[in-house]
Amino acid sequence: MTAFPVTRLRRLRRTDALRSLVRETRLDLDRVVAPLFACPGEGVVDPAAGLPGLAQRSLDELVREAGELHGLGIRAVLLFGIPEEKDEEGSGAWDDDGVVQRALRALRAEVPGLTLITDVCLCEYTSHGHCGVLREGEVANDETLELLARAAVSHVEAGADVVAPSDMMDGRIGAIRAVLPETPIVSYAAKYASAFYGPFRDVAESAPAFGDRRGYQLDPANVREALRECALDVDEGADVLMIKPALPYLDVIRAARERFDCPLWAYSVSGEYAMVKAAAAAGHLDERAAALEWLTAITRAGAEVIVTYWAKELAAWI
Ligand code: PBG
Repeated sequence: MTAFPVTRLRRLRRTDALRSLVRETRLDLDRVVAPLFACPGEGVVDPAAGLPGLAQRSLDELVREAGELHGLGIRAVLLFGIPEEKDEEGSGAWDDDGVVQRALRALRAEVPGLTLITDVCLCEYTSHGHCGVLREGEVANDETLELLARAAVSHVEAGADVVAPSDMMDGRIGAIRAVLPETPIVSYAAKYASAFYGPFRDVAESAPAFGDRRGYQLDPANVREALRECALDVDEGADVLMIKPALPYLDVIRAARERFDCPLWAYSVSGEYAMVKAAAAAGHLDERAAALEWLTAITRAGAEVIVTYWAKELAAWI
């Protein structure tokens, strides 16, 4: 009855202003988190794999970059550390004088007002590159929990506003919640054993020396299991659920959005960023248009906040 010619959806697409008035999803800088990588040294800016969004930075450069991001309207950063030395247990992760802890103190002092979120994991700090301690060649879940909790506490003592555990051990949210009752926890609740972490592992120097992470990260084929992870994390005290990667997992984002009432974030990972950068460099895509479409799709699927390496460029684009 109301089909064509009565209904003509093109009527609202005629001008830019009309399209803007009926747009359902918008990107918002208040809801963008920029990842940053702290490394030792001075004057170091080392963009891994030639990707500007994925550079190791010494503290001086980190503070400068964070200040610039804040000045552009980015309100939160997610901090990773690349320590000078690694060991079997990943003890650099909870070292009070560790690279992230020092970065937190510097950022707290130099860029007040910037929200500091830390990635809590052992993989950047272990000599074998796995996200927990090894016993007989396997990642030992329960022994790892205590170390993750220690790392989280040291981050908060150094000035972190929020901690974000990314290790995928069972029970880690509860273990951290038990020692940090007042700190917001962003749980990488559904983190998949993905092929899209490659450039990150280059910059964070965190590729596993043997094997892979399929014994603890989620199987890309599963969505119900991801929802069980989310439910457990909420029960254990997570404040925010995060899905990672983002674009290949829009169905997971949507399913989590429909099932849970807590804030939902998505991490658009290094491989997603690298794909668009590479295609743009080869002349196949317009980077700005592709990136905006990419991040809009993630928002449309239901993520409220996106962790993205495009954060800085986005500040100029929107
Ligand atoms: C640490 C961690 C990883 C990423 C974020 N935190 C790597 C991994 O699990 O191997 C990947 C982020 C990205 O690719 O952008 N566990």
